[in-house]
Amino acid sequence: MQNLFDLSGKTAIVTGGSRGLGKAIAKGLHEAGVEVVIMGTNNRVLDTANELFENGAPVYGVIADFSNLKSVEKAFESAISKLGTVDILVNNAGMQIRHPAAEFPIEDWEKVLNVNLSAAFVMAQLAGRAMLEARSGKIINIASLLSFSGGLTVPAYAASKGGIAQLTKALANEWAKDGINVNAIAPGYMDTDNIAALKKDEVRNRQLLERIPMGRYGKPEDIVGTVIYLASEASQYVNGTIVTVDGGWMAR
Ligand SMILES: NC(=O)c1ccc[n+]([C@@H]2O[C@H](COP(=O)([O-])OP(=O)(O)OC[C@H]3O[C@@H](n4cnc5c(N)ncnc54)[C@H](O)[C@@H]3O)[C@@H](O)[C@H]2O)c1
Repeated sequence: MQNLFDLSGKTAIVTGGSRGLGKAIAKGLHEAGVEVVIMGTNNRVLDTANELFENGAPVYGVIADFSNLKSVEKAFESAISKLGTVDILVNNAGMQIRHPAAEFPIEDWEKVLNVNLSAAFVMAQLAGRAMLEARSGKIINIASLLSFSGGLTVPAYAASKGGIAQLTKALANEWAKDGINVNAIAPGYMDTDNIAALKKDEVRNRQLLERIPMGRYGKPEDIVGTVIYLASEASQYVNGTIVTVDGGWMAR
């Protein structure tokens, strides 16, 4: 039987691949035989690329700060110059800024929306054009539990992740007929820098762990199987959906 999950020889761009979930995703794709470009804001992304590329298909690093949208196009061109083409795009880069809504500075709002939503759209547009020509491609957007609920003191993040869920559906509606699958993964509380502030708060930490049916935070590697599935033939008829990988949080 054909291996439905075979990704060998494919190419992928993973934004925000220098640490956390993006690094685990890049590692998983690399181990599946995929040639990967990871993107990040500083030199660390080059170190991570070297660390991941011990053997097998190459892993390249590209430095780009998505708070400036012009850098997204440059980063994409740089990735294509290394890969030749892109079969899989994982829009993973994301950031968090917390303030009460009434005091949220508009500069911080714009930064979060640029990095978490607008950059993902521009990257999907650029990759999508190549995928439309090839009549095949897989786009995986990293959403959040805040694609479904509002959170506290994180209005920009919640708006950006709600937007990611809707963007996933909008792109799937347009491109499904052209051989492109656009889906999202909504991780629960995963143990990365992203939730460091929550973990430091003793009360919040206990409340969160009590609320997660599996009783633990997710590990970055917990997301990899779902990425492989959504990047492979196994998910060929899955389009425009948001898969939760949350230890059961949404079932509570
Ligand atoms: N950790 C969680 O609990 C959790 C839950 C739901 C969703 N997510 C989402 O998963 C994704 C990865 O987050 P993580 O937990 O690995 O966090 P992280 O902070 O460890 O990693 C964030 C990544 O985004 C990149 N990034 C940040 N600002 C950027 C900018 N201005 N330009 C370009 N890249 C930038 C960083 O280089 C880094 O690789 C994010 O989209 C985040 O919103 C995380």
